[in-house]
Amino acid sequence: MTLWGGAFSQPTDDAVRRLNDSLRFDWRLYDVDISGSIAWAHALAGAGVITEDEYAALADGLERVRAEFAGGTFEAASGDEDIHTAVERRLGALVGDVAGKLHTGRSRNDQVATDVLLWLIRAQKDVRAAILPLATALRGQAQRGRDAVMPGYTHFQPAQPITAAHWWLSHFWPLTRDIERLAEQADRWRDKCPLGSGALAGTPYAINRQRLAERLGFRRATANSLDGVADRDHVAEFLFALTLLGVHLSRLAEDLIVYANPALGFVRLDERYSTGSSLMPQKRNPDPLELARGKAGRAIGNLTGFLATLKGLPTAYNKDLQEDKEPLFDAYDTIMALLPPLVGLIETIRINPDRMEAALDESMLATDLADYLVERGVPFRQAHVMAGRVVRAAEERGVPLSGVPLDALREISEHFTEDVSAVFDFRAAAARRKAPGGTGDYDGQMRRAEAWLATQKA
Ligand code: ARG
Repeated sequence: MTLWGGAFSQPTDDAVRRLNDSLRFDWRLYDVDISGSIAWAHALAGAGVITEDEYAALADGLERVRAEFAGGTFEAASGDEDIHTAVERRLGALVGDVAGKLHTGRSRNDQVATDVLLWLIRAQKDVRAAILPLATALRGQAQRGRDAVMPGYTHFQPAQPITAAHWWLSHFWPLTRDIERLAEQADRWRDKCPLGSGALAGTPYAINRQRLAERLGFRRATANSLDGVADRDHVAEFLFALTLLGVHLSRLAEDLIVYANPALGFVRLDERYSTGSSLMPQKRNPDPLELARGKAGRAIGNLTGFLATLKGLPTAYNKDLQEDKEPLFDAYDTIMALLPPLVGLIETIRINPDRMEAALDESMLATDLADYLVERGVPFRQAHVMAGRVVRAAEERGVPLSGVPLDALREISEHFTEDVSAVFDFRAAAARRKAPGGTGDYDGQMRRAEAWLATQKA
């Protein structure tokens, strides 16, 4: 059975059929496709197009098809072009001629547009649920890293001391934005149920589209049937949200790959989350982190490839739009395969506070030296120059900043006195930056993180 062919005198070429068919990937829409069809049958009954008995027979048959898919007993037939064809063909086998009434006033164009939206509204929930434990694990590491002081880098050069907690939480906040972005997008998607758009021009039957939309969990129906069948903004938005999430994960991964290098040794991966080399017995490779870094590239490819598919498409449905599903499912599967191992990896990774501290260098306190002079009335610009001279003096003597004798400091500025020695304390330097959002404001930041996590659990 095909859903068309009355006007054709020849069968489709086999190679064209293989190119055209989408069941091998769009079978994943079966559940939302069947929910959409049941709602459509209900709307047809409401419009007086079919009887209540016919609706009951269709709904019952569709539930049986759903059960076959869910139970893995559904058998595809050779003419099953896509999921919509497969479901309707099987429905006919189960309930007979009444199945032929289901597609009244509907097209696969508004059907597939609805299916994809329904699938996405579920999928974004799964993704959010999978991100949350990772955010929670980062929060847990931050609690453990509260007192560890490490080098903070800019340009990947030593900059200022920070706590490990502050660094961990810098990777927590992007995930909160990812979760919120997905939720906000999905909320907007609920305003545009395309079912009832027909092939392009709308449906001639007295369908109550508002009720139909609400039955499927939407707030409203689309305002324009041409846009209704052509709009794939939600696919692009979801791909973008997953891509940005992937980019965030790649940055966390890169930090950890560098920190796990024995030259720094700030962190050590649990053996369950690292792998060995077939040749070099000493190797402990951070493969899951490298894959996190690498898969971001794949997500970017899915996003840009799909945007290229959309670009310049003529009005309404074009078969190009069938190309939305493979990048969409691939991006989703990729992220969903990546998040759980990352949660375990973050939960079990151990920081080495001694190695972090050993990597601190007094030059990272040069700003604090300038701040010392500012506290004694020197304008910051001058203080910056003077502190720079101290850095140079230390380099010339081959000593750390604290090794420059007081008389040499006083030649640079008479504001330097005995108590300058208190500046050379990494922990104090971090603690001093306690304005909200700074590395010294652990309590304030943690309160915000906890409050955010509590909103997610609610
Ligand atoms: N498999 C198609 C897709 O995913 C379904 C819609 C087909 N519509 C059509 N007029 N051939 O886009």
